[in-house]
Amino acid sequence: MFTWRFPVRLVWGAAILLILGGWLLPTNAQGEPVSFKNDVFPILELRCLSCHQPGGSGFEKSGLDMRTYESLMKGTKYGSMIVPKSAFTSNLIAVIDHRTDTKLYMPHNKKRISKCERLILRFWINQGAKNN
Ligand code: HEC
Repeated sequence: MFTWRFPVRLVWGAAILLILGGWLLPTNAQGEPVSFKNDVFPILELRCLSCHQPGGSGFEKSGLDMRTYESLMKGTKYGSMIVPKSAFTSNLIAVIDHRTDTKLYMPHNKKRISKCERLILRFWINQGAKNN
C-alpha cells in the first residue's frame, strides 16, 4: 500500500504546481498592458482622490494631488511616489500594501484596498507607469 501512495502524492503535487503556475505567470508583466485612463485612474478616483486633491487631508499634509497623471507623477513635497518599472520600491505601492509605518497606511484610516486593485497599480508601474 505504502509503496504506491508516495508517487500518487507527487502527481498531485505536480498538478497543483502547474495550476498555480498557470494562474500566477500570466498576471506578471506578460498580460495585457494596463491603461492609466481605463484601469488605474478609476481606482485612484474611487479610493484616494477625495483626500488627495486641494482641500483633502492627504493633499494638505503631503502635497500629493491625484487629479491628473502629471500631478500624480509629481508626487509629494518630498518627491516622487512612483518609480516607473519598479513597483516594489515605489512609495505609493508600499503605503497601499502596508509595508510602511502604520500611520502611513493608505487609504488613511480605512480598510486596505483589494488585492486586485493593488495588483493593477503594481502592474501599471512595472509596465513603465505610462500615461496611456
Ligand atoms: C481619508 C483620507 C485619505 C485617503 C482616502 C487616502 N489618503 Fe493618502 N494620505 C492621506 C494623509 C492624511 C496623508 C499624509 C500622511 C502623513 O504624512 O502622516 C497621505 C499621504 C499619502 C502618501 C504620501 C506618503 C508619504 O510617504 O509621505 C501617499 C503615497 C498616499 N497618501 C497614497 C494614497 C493612495 C494610493 C490612496 C488610495 C489608495 C490614498 N493615499 C488614500 C490621506 C488619505
